[in-house]
Amino acid sequence: MAMEQRKCEAGRVNRRWVCLVIAVLLWSVASAQIRYSISEEVMEGTAVGNVAKDLGLDKSTLKDRKYRIVSSAADPLFHVNQNDGILYVSRKMDREEICERSSTCLLNLKTVLENPLEIHYIGVEVLDINDHSPSFPEIQKTLEISESVVSGKSFQLQAARDPDNGPFSVQHYKLNQNDHFRLEVKDKGEDGKIPILIVKKTLDREAAESHSLVLIAVDGGKPPKSGEMNILVNVLDINDNAPVFSEDVYSVMLNENAPVGTTVTQVNATDLDDGPNGEVVYSFSNSVNRRLFKLFEINQSTGEIIVKGPIDYEHKDKYEIEIQASDKGLAHLTTEKNVVIKIVDVNDNAPEIEVTSFSSSIPEDS
Ligand SMILES: *[C@@H]1O[C@H](CO)[C@@H](O)[C@H](O)[C@H]1NC(C)=O
Ligand SMILES: *[C@@H]1O[C@H](CO)[C@@H](O)[C@H](O)[C@H]1NC(C)=O
Repeated sequence: MAMEQRKCEAGRVNRRWVCLVIAVLLWSVASAQIRYSISEEVMEGTAVGNVAKDLGLDKSTLKDRKYRIVSSAADPLFHVNQNDGILYVSRKMDREEICERSSTCLLNLKTVLENPLEIHYIGVEVLDINDHSPSFPEIQKTLEISESVVSGKSFQLQAARDPDNGPFSVQHYKLNQNDHFRLEVKDKGEDGKIPILIVKKTLDREAAESHSLVLIAVDGGKPPKSGEMNILVNVLDINDNAPVFSEDVYSVMLNENAPVGTTVTQVNATDLDDGPNGEVVYSFSNSVNRRLFKLFEINQSTGEIIVKGPIDYEHKDKYEIEIQASDKGLAHLTTEKNVVIKIVDVNDNAPEIEVTSFSSSIPEDS
């Protein structure tokens, strides 16, 4: 009818009056039609309305005049009883199945009587009940979020769907209490409400590798129905930790003349990061005197310092070697540490005998 009026307004002035008459006629026909409403999911055999009475038909003639609903459906939703003139539900109805997503579910039934032929239309509105719970497309979702994200960063999630209409559709979302994330909801009108996860507090993989969240969608029924989705947030590592040596000071004693291959000591550094960002390699630092490279070496994977050349106490009784531990991150982080090696003298030099000649005489008055 709104269409009809719009077409009318577009028309010329002399046509307007005719249009108006048509509109009024259409309206009166529409309003004359009887209309019932019935909740979805009611039992088979539930009475919808007294059609005969409401149409002003003589109940006793219904059988002879073969009063019936004209329907092409193999499995009709309604039937009229020719004895009492009442419209009954023939089978249980799911509003969402009959009318899908439309907001009002109005069915138009055409009924006929014969001798003489009479046609009456009956409107039946199928009312929504809260017979569905919200549900998410996935029950379990995994998100990978780098620990470098700043707070305020948002991640759009999939909306929950509820086939029920209006107030019985998804009304709001809840997120379990947690320190790092909060929830925002974007209302996209027809497309429903979209949950958005917001980083509330920056993530630190070394403090927590993952976070388990539960997102709950709630509809507006009384009592409300809900559906939930588990979200596992895996925190992706960035190289934000440098290796740390297990000791503050490494100080060892080494006998001079220790054979080549002797392990002097073993340093150990660990890095909290993940994967290559946390793998440590050892080396002498750039500041180490080249001469020392001839005497000692370090195993880059184990951190063992090994004798490589002859160590001589008489030459030097103490060595200080700066070791570095680096991770294998793209921009690798390095930590230095001094290792002090004290050389212990072993008696490897034959005593030199000093021969002094005591000559001459001793004065007699000494
Ligand atoms: C190095 O230190 C870590 C942490 O204390 C320990 O798990 C590891 O076994 C140590 N490695 C060596 C070679 O001592
Ligand atoms: C370092 O130590 C490991 C384990 O003992 C060994 O397999 C490797 O050959 C050593 N590397 C060098 C360069 O000696």
